Amino acid sequence: MPAKTAVVLGAQWGDEGKGKIVDVLADRFSVVARYAGGHNAGHTVIIGGKKFVLQLIPCGVLRPDCIGVIGNGVVLDPVAFLQEVARLREMGIHPDGKLFVSNRAHVILPYHRMIELAAENAPGRMKIGTTSRGIGPAYEDKMKRGGLRVVDMLNSALLRTHIQNACHEKNTIARALFGADPLDANKMYNEYARIAEQLAPYVTDTGVLLNQALRAGKSILFEGAQGTLLDIDHGTYPFVTSSSATAGGASIGTGIGPTNIGTVIGVTKAYITRVGEGPFPTEIHDSIGEALRARGQEYGAVTGRPRRCGWVDLPLLRYSNQINGAEWLVVTKLDVLDDLETIPVCTGYKIDGKVTDVIPADVRGLESIEPIYKNLKGWRQSTEGITDPSKLPTAAQEYLRFLEAESCARIGMISTGPDRAQTMWTPEFTAALNNMAVAR
Ligand code: IMP
Repeated sequence: MPAKTAVVLGAQWGDEGKGKIVDVLADRFSVVARYAGGHNAGHTVIIGGKKFVLQLIPCGVLRPDCIGVIGNGVVLDPVAFLQEVARLREMGIHPDGKLFVSNRAHVILPYHRMIELAAENAPGRMKIGTTSRGIGPAYEDKMKRGGLRVVDMLNSALLRTHIQNACHEKNTIARALFGADPLDANKMYNEYARIAEQLAPYVTDTGVLLNQALRAGKSILFEGAQGTLLDIDHGTYPFVTSSSATAGGASIGTGIGPTNIGTVIGVTKAYITRVGEGPFPTEIHDSIGEALRARGQEYGAVTGRPRRCGWVDLPLLRYSNQINGAEWLVVTKLDVLDDLETIPVCTGYKIDGKVTDVIPADVRGLESIEPIYKNLKGWRQSTEGITDPSKLPTAAQEYLRFLEAESCARIGMISTGPDRAQTMWTPEFTAALNNMAVAR
């Protein structure tokens, strides 16, 4: 029997609407665990007209019976974490006793943000268009074995030595390379020692917690952050984030073995978007792109930056489903296409005059792609409020069937609005989740 676990992740460059989908699915899971990224993510959930934007805390905490876990693969800004907890409390959600942070997660400190801002703005450096949250430099420290983990932060002697040594190193580098002002190590230590005390009640060995939950027959939903094409290994490098956003990251970033991943659910919008720099073969540069941005409210949940909009890119979607082993596809924001007469979908590429659907590893290759489009018929009627996929306009059903046939994954859910209620399930997906015998 497959493990009662599912990974939900973005099929493109993030912002696919995972927050809402995880929130809807969390109703059937005991635990929701984040496995990668940090407070660069912005997961928007609307419940009964109330808007929650979660950056670090898994969407599961919005469900009364669900436990939220921040896994070891996440980089944790403790200030952002405590602010988010406070915001949740103000909105009547009390996460104490149901929200846990891995003692092995790495900590983002102020010098990570300092280095990132200085590097992004330095003349002659390639700009990635990051979220300026210190994510990349914190993962750099982790990989070079110079990071501070949550467990180390709770040890005040270790915290003091770490901050002193790191500030000395980072201040020297930032001054030499970018002319940045130095940070005060003593002030930082005092602040973070206080923060450590507030963080301590949430900290545990989440790998043990999750494995015990599995053994007890509980179900776990792994909540991806960012998206497949922002993955450090498989994304459009170097225009990527610094973590493993793909399905494999769920195992590494939580301590659950790969054989315990039950299924993988990729989320894509009915069109696609990207925020920040980097290649985007099907980007729309005319007024249709602007109309999609306006109707889909395509502005970053974290930074407020306008998102670039484009048509569904099937070679990239197939690539994403292959890397993730995605069995299911969730299509969000179908209603944003309601007014269109025709909807182009990219079915292949021409690179240097040759037809291919192989994704080039070289970013310059991606930039020189000429997409090949198939025009599908629009439905020109409202899909809002429809709760049964078979009641969708015929052209909308055909559009979805085409995506399903070409993407190598079955469509499980369709979303036509931001609220929990504006979600349709296909009968096969409902049956598959029921077969997983998901139990709290
Ligand atoms: P970083 O993760 O802040 O280092 O940013 C690296 C790249 O990932 C930039 O292009 C960001 O815009 C993008 N990015 C990071 N997090 C998200 C997200 O949650 N949604 C969409 N793009 C993101």
